[in-house]
Amino acid sequence: MLLNDRFLKACLGEAVDQTPLWLMRQAGRYLPEYNATRAKAGSFLGLAKNPTYATEVTLQPLDRYPLDAAILFSDILTIPDAMGLGLKFTGGEGPSFDHPLRTEEAVKKLRVADMGELKYVFDAVSEIRKALSQDGKQRVPLIGFSGSPWTLACYMIDGSGSDDFRHAKTMMFSRPDLLQHILDINAQSVAAYLTEQVKAGAQALMIFDTWGGMLPDGWYQQMSLASMQKVISLLPREHEGRKIPIIMFTKGGAIWLNDMAHAGADVIAIDWTISLSRARKQLLALNKPLALQGNLDPLILFSEPKQIAEQANLLLEDLAGAPALKPGLHPLDGHIFNLGHGISQFTPPESVSALTETVIQRSRVLRSK
Ligand code: CP3
Repeated sequence: MLLNDRFLKACLGEAVDQTPLWLMRQAGRYLPEYNATRAKAGSFLGLAKNPTYATEVTLQPLDRYPLDAAILFSDILTIPDAMGLGLKFTGGEGPSFDHPLRTEEAVKKLRVADMGELKYVFDAVSEIRKALSQDGKQRVPLIGFSGSPWTLACYMIDGSGSDDFRHAKTMMFSRPDLLQHILDINAQSVAAYLTEQVKAGAQALMIFDTWGGMLPDGWYQQMSLASMQKVISLLPREHEGRKIPIIMFTKGGAIWLNDMAHAGADVIAIDWTISLSRARKQLLALNKPLALQGNLDPLILFSEPKQIAEQANLLLEDLAGAPALKPGLHPLDGHIFNLGHGISQFTPPESVSALTETVIQRSRVLRSK
């Protein structure tokens, strides 16, 4: 039994008493307790590959803040790691691969990831599910996730983070057939990976398309969106009698909201470049009453608590003034409060308290009006 099902209800466009809230990267370096566990584990990968440590850090933000969902502690780059590309995280510099896909030969050798290599992720999912429950009662639902086929390809081809993902985009423009081959293999891998997460206990799924917003209009739809749509078509939509909502997030993708609406997701996550009311109206105009997730600029968390509260209020008031998703619902229903991107590692932990307090109180007051 779920003690708090606000998040799942909001994903499916059902009425709730207050707006559910979770934060991308809610378990991470802004929390001193995360840094302590990471030090025990020795490294980020040591942490992510150990289900017991992964469970410990997944629960840390829930013990500190009244959040409405847990998210599996892992990384999107586990898939290319399992494909044998040799993932490394070098101190503070982010991820890199020993064997990036830079030649036709390397691309042709790529195979769908072996799910056996990712067992540690599925073990973490089931261990987190157990840790979330006491006496058969589960505190909050657990979100599983993956990178999108295109976002994974960016790292697989360039071999690390980048300002422009020059190698990935060059392959796209000069050898679209090779990129398409990678995207097809990634889509099959992502679908298998997310399916296994559901079998292990994930109750909602999120696809992170962090770099979709770098693509030209037209190329986004053809490459990133089409491959996410392929993934979604392969996913289970129900498990053990419960619906499994799918959240799709293309950072910088607000201009393609209309295209995203047709990809089969239940929830569209947006960044701060579009307001919630504008996104709601666009979806309703298309007759696609999908839930929205987002979209506070994470940098607002560097302001004073009073200013954080003001900005969160503005966001909720904007949506409260928009049309409801369906007749009988409050305009605030069908919204999951989140940031427009991951929380910064330099965020003061007290800022998150100011945010959660405001969202809970204000979303209740606005609903009673
Ligand atoms: O949201 C959560 O709490 C779950 C955990 C999570 C992590 N990474 C943990 C992590 C999730 C959902 C991700 C997704 C991820 N990873 C994305 C997509 C979302 C986004 O933020 O755009 C991307 C692009 C990555 C790849 C990645 N992982 C990069 C570029 C880096 C280095 C940059 C950074 O923030 O440090 C990572 C490392 C990483 N993944 C950390 C965490 C907590 C920090 C590593 C550390 O502890 O040293």
